Amino acid sequence: MAFWNRTKSFEAATTRDTHSALKPTLSWVHLVGLGVGGIVGTGIYTLTGVGAGMAGPAVILSFVVAGIVCAAAALAYAEMATMMPMAGSAYTYTYVALGELLAWIVGWTLILEYTVVCSAVAVGWSGYAAGVIRAAGWPIPEALLAGPGAGGLVNVPAIVISLAVAGLLAIGSRESATVNLVLVAVKLVALAIFVALALPAFSADHFEPFAPFGYGSTEIADGTKQGVMAAAAIIFFAFYGFDAVSTAAEETKNPKRDLKIGIIGSMVLCTFLYMIVAAAALGGSNYQDLAKSTEPLAMVLRGLNHPAAATLIATAAVIALPTVIMAFMYGQSRIFFVMARDGLLPQRLSKVHPRFGTPVLMTFITSVIVALIAAFVPLQNIAAVANAGTLIAFIAVAVCMMVTRKTHPQHPRMFGPVTTWIIGIVAVLGCLYLFDSLQTRTKYSVLIWNAIGLAIYLLWARRKSLVPG
Ligand code: ALA
Repeated sequence: MAFWNRTKSFEAATTRDTHSALKPTLSWVHLVGLGVGGIVGTGIYTLTGVGAGMAGPAVILSFVVAGIVCAAAALAYAEMATMMPMAGSAYTYTYVALGELLAWIVGWTLILEYTVVCSAVAVGWSGYAAGVIRAAGWPIPEALLAGPGAGGLVNVPAIVISLAVAGLLAIGSRESATVNLVLVAVKLVALAIFVALALPAFSADHFEPFAPFGYGSTEIADGTKQGVMAAAAIIFFAFYGFDAVSTAAEETKNPKRDLKIGIIGSMVLCTFLYMIVAAAALGGSNYQDLAKSTEPLAMVLRGLNHPAAATLIATAAVIALPTVIMAFMYGQSRIFFVMARDGLLPQRLSKVHPRFGTPVLMTFITSVIVALIAAFVPLQNIAAVANAGTLIAFIAVAVCMMVTRKTHPQHPRMFGPVTTWIIGIVAVLGCLYLFDSLQTRTKYSVLIWNAIGLAIYLLWARRKSLVPG
């Protein structure tokens, strides 16, 4: 069979690893916790401000648009994850449904996405960490607390957190589902306190003018974009992370039911919460101030004369946001591992350390790249690249859902044919539209990354594939 349509069999993609010693101990509560743990992060805590700078108060509409597109993708994801509850996520589904060449493109894109998400969350984290450092009066020069795009020279806190999380992952300490639930509770309680204090101070005046930069996605002189749709393409960052749920498929008591509840439940919960938090933030401060802050939620509370609560929110962010970095860094190594197992990437790189039982070399290389990007590149640009990669993966999952309906009609699935098409088409068109709303240079970065990937595939990987063709 030609390499471009060499596919993995459905059975090979869904056969559980019999050597896996993982015990099925997780319930849907843990899975909703994992989902919320991966979703709630820099998006709501920091990009709310970036989005406000791009769309004005109308960023609230950007949340609605990004939420709808992500919800459609989450439903497609839930369908595929319950059909193939195995590691590799979008890469594996594409291998089964569309063949090796497209699977390579999706896997290669996921590697980029997961890496830059970690950098973006590290930068978001450092905004809040810098606030705590200043409040504590530690004598650290401002130039070392932010990257060049945010008024500093090098973002040292972002470097420190990237390397620290990688260190923890390398020695094998992935937080347990119970610890994750506690950290999720910290994030949610912090957001609830924010809403409780900011909402009573809601002022409709802050919503005038409502959409100062228009409703579309307009390129301005420096190549950046503004408007509601341009902001939606960035705010999209806040909504994903539910993919983390599927990585726990093999530890789930009742995967068919619980994965579905985990993915959809965490999305619904976060969408509901985000709407209230965004409304409270925009009603509690003018959008220009939100846009300028690297810790917008804490800034709003300070402005409303709640300094202690502001410190509390910042501290909660500092404690709990690293779990998002952990989820994505782990996911990255998992994708790399599955691609290496298929022969498409060098197995040497994902070799498991004899003592720690983790891919130490891969984790180290990833963390250095994550740290370098986080140290010097502005948050908005990093998040845009992460979103571009995610949008490509989501399009692939939605297409796989529609294609497997035709190619594997005998497999039980959640949705009937009409629902499948509606979800699939909304997800594909929505993701394409958001992709188009991104800055031109972001689209080029992803294109160049994939051109490099394609060259590696054609010159090397396709000949190394271990999947029978
Ligand atoms: N949704 C995740 C975050 O906002 C990636 O940090």
